Amino acid sequence: MAVLVTGGAGYIGSHTCIELLKAGEDIVVIDNFYNSKPKAIEMIKEITGRDFAFYENDCCDRQALDRIFSENFIEEVIHFAGYKAVGESCLNPLMYYNNNINATLALLDTMNKYGCRRFVFSSSATVYGIPKKVPVTEKMPLSSINPYGSTKLMIENMCRELYTSDDRWSIVLLRYFNPIGAHESGKIGEDPNGIPNNLMPLILRAATGKMATLTVFGNDYPTPDGTCIRDYIHVVDLALGHLAAINYARKNTGCPAFNLGTGKGYSVLDIINTFEKVNKVKVPYVIGARRPGDAAECYSNPTLAKKELGWKAERGLEQMCADSWNFIKNN
Ligand code: UD1
Repeated sequence: MAVLVTGGAGYIGSHTCIELLKAGEDIVVIDNFYNSKPKAIEMIKEITGRDFAFYENDCCDRQALDRIFSENFIEEVIHFAGYKAVGESCLNPLMYYNNNINATLALLDTMNKYGCRRFVFSSSATVYGIPKKVPVTEKMPLSSINPYGSTKLMIENMCRELYTSDDRWSIVLLRYFNPIGAHESGKIGEDPNGIPNNLMPLILRAATGKMATLTVFGNDYPTPDGTCIRDYIHVVDLALGHLAAINYARKNTGCPAFNLGTGKGYSVLDIINTFEKVNKVKVPYVIGARRPGDAAECYSNPTLAKKELGWKAERGLEQMCADSWNFIKNN
């Protein structure tokens, strides 16, 4: 009996594999290394001292999925594999629809065929579009403002409709806020191929001199210091949320969605200042124009996850900044 982790070499996937293995679960991993590296798989094994089956395949590859399900007894699937860059999705929407939707369809079809009906999906706070109110609760209206967000929303809808059609399914939709930080060992962390788009990887590039300056996207928002506010969550807390979701799916059928965030909002300048203070390093930055599509504030109300999953984020911003830096220094 094993949990299949798609995209298990990626940033959130690799941290989740570690927590699953530490909790005594058996796992099987599929990843095509599109945005990750084989080293992550080695590191998961090194950190946990455990072995597992790994398949270097694309999740759209139905033959490969068939092989995985016939060679292993998969009871649950956690689906991380997918493209995630907002800007790229606007330039090439078909690439996003093709990959994210087809991979999920292939996976759900294969699960159905093998009678495996517990599914945890990597959704995102992006499904709230530009939230009209903060903190964001799961009941707030859903919308998408870019093709990446559309794929997340379409998959959520697909899952809800699937459960409506067959109530044997246990599906948990996890809406992530902004994951940062890294494993305390410094052996795995966010290691994207190519140029990053998210704030923390860019702070790391500016702090190490790989990039001359970070551009803060706007300081004229209606927030205390004028910069945007987000709900940054330690990736290990996020990983533990998946364990809680798997345990929930073992006991409940349905298709609920849960916010995985801390419930606290920090501005871009809060992050830069905390990073500089904790790590005693300068982050050179300039104030630039707003980035189109950015909400002034987006942070979660995480109480539903606490109530239903028994999960709560424990790690604070200082630890997130220290662990992100520790990973980069070690690599
Ligand atoms: C972005 C995506 C979101 C996706 C999430 C996870 C957009 C509009 N949203 O969220 O759909 O689910 O990533 O990958 O892209 N910032 C700067 N300078 C930079 C980069 C970022 O000031 O060079 C600011 C942004 O304005 C924002 C904050 O840092 O206020 C966080 O940005 P980012 O890491 O890209 O995350 P989100 O925009 O929240």
